Amino acid sequence: MRYFISQVKEFRIYIVHRKVGINFLQSSSGLTPHITHPLTHTEYMSRALSLAAKGRGFTSPNPMVGCVIVKGGRVIGEGWHHQYGHPHAEIEAINNANSRGENVRGATVYVTLEPCSHYGKTPPCANRLVDEGVSEVIIAMEDPNPKVSGNGIKILREAGIKVTMLPEFQQEAMSLNRGFIFLHKHGRPFITLKAAMSLDGRMCLSNGASKWITGIEARTEAHRIRAMNDAVLVGVGTVISDDPELTVRHVEGINPLRVILDSSLKTPITAKAIGHDGKCLILTSENPDPQKLKALTDSGVEVATLPSRDGNIDLHSAVKYLAGKGVLTLMVEGGPEILSAFLREGLADYAYVFTAPVIFGGGKSITFDAKFHDVKAALWLVDAKTKVLGNDIMTEGMLTCSPGL
Ligand SMILES: NC(=O)c1ccc[n+]([C@@H]2O[C@H](COP(=O)([O-])OP(=O)(O)OC[C@H]3O[C@@H](n4cnc5c(N)ncnc54)[C@H](OP(=O)(O)O)[C@@H]3O)[C@@H](O)[C@H]2O)c1
Repeated sequence: MRYFISQVKEFRIYIVHRKVGINFLQSSSGLTPHITHPLTHTEYMSRALSLAAKGRGFTSPNPMVGCVIVKGGRVIGEGWHHQYGHPHAEIEAINNANSRGENVRGATVYVTLEPCSHYGKTPPCANRLVDEGVSEVIIAMEDPNPKVSGNGIKILREAGIKVTMLPEFQQEAMSLNRGFIFLHKHGRPFITLKAAMSLDGRMCLSNGASKWITGIEARTEAHRIRAMNDAVLVGVGTVISDDPELTVRHVEGINPLRVILDSSLKTPITAKAIGHDGKCLILTSENPDPQKLKALTDSGVEVATLPSRDGNIDLHSAVKYLAGKGVLTLMVEGGPEILSAFLREGLADYAYVFTAPVIFGGGKSITFDAKFHDVKAALWLVDAKTKVLGNDIMTEGMLTCSPGL
């Protein structure tokens, strides 16, 4: 790794990382750094992408977006979309520049997503960039939202602003916001399945015991995956047998919304997943038992009724309902019944499978009635990656049943 260290006035020392852009090292003033020499497109956009990621867990149903403003070879402002309803990244970066006495007229703006062109919770950023008189906007990817797609770029170009796309960053920008892109393309959240199993593919023993199949390293990784998702979902079977908290504890991160599929409201009010923090949602069938409903809602749980199919909650209605609540990314952590049901319905895009060095010789496994007649046509994890975590092995990848980004 190569570093450039530059010393500027007021005893400020900054370190510039070749890959991730500009990293703050120390500053007597506490301000964002002024870089004294020009960097490349790659470095500015890498910086904008790392700023965007700071919004993880706060921006849904909006995307994570980062922005860096450069003038005369110096970064004069930078920002990211902090939270849904708050200013967008471009406005944060303009405000950041202004707060330091900088004028963005004639500047080049690096932004990870096409600037918006519609009135949502905030006015359009494309118009604001025009009003500010910037000279060039460099973008990593177009906005997949049909209300915006291409219009932001059009507004900028019609105002005489040069717009440049950086296709080499498109993949990274897309994977940062895959839930947002997926929702706009397919009308449902991006669904990640997570399962821990024995070498013979069992998720629990034949008596139902399964806590814990994997070691602490694998469980820590599972918490990291939770923190990347807006919601985590299990079936009531898991709540009753394992009483999981479904929170992020082994790593730093935001707790996702906890969702329980429970057709007849069997979730005990003492269940840890209820959490009493207003972040638990139970999806149940129509006409719930009024007493059970009251007990749960009195405990701070939101309960929503959904149509049933074949005696169970209709999963297509469930994921649509979650999308309507702003859930862009959903992690399904349930037991074998729930995981099988999501696979059966083709509601699965990505999988993390943790395999422990143990043979159960019985117990439930993931089953779905797929009649594959050719190994190549079976359900594969595409470009699968494996990782050794303590004694366990994690395999992850996009599932071939996913319609893709
Ligand atoms: N190894 C692992 O990764 C792992 C993870 C979690 C759990 N487990 C183990 O799995 C076992 C529990 O298995 P499980 O299969 O009962 O748990 P589950 O899949 O979490 O829950 C299944 C229950 O969800 C409810 N449900 C609601 N809508 C559904 C739908 N559309 N499709 C399927 N189910 C729906 C059903 O109960 P209602 O009909 O009452 O609604 C069903 O019995 C326990 O032994 C637990 O320890 C293992």
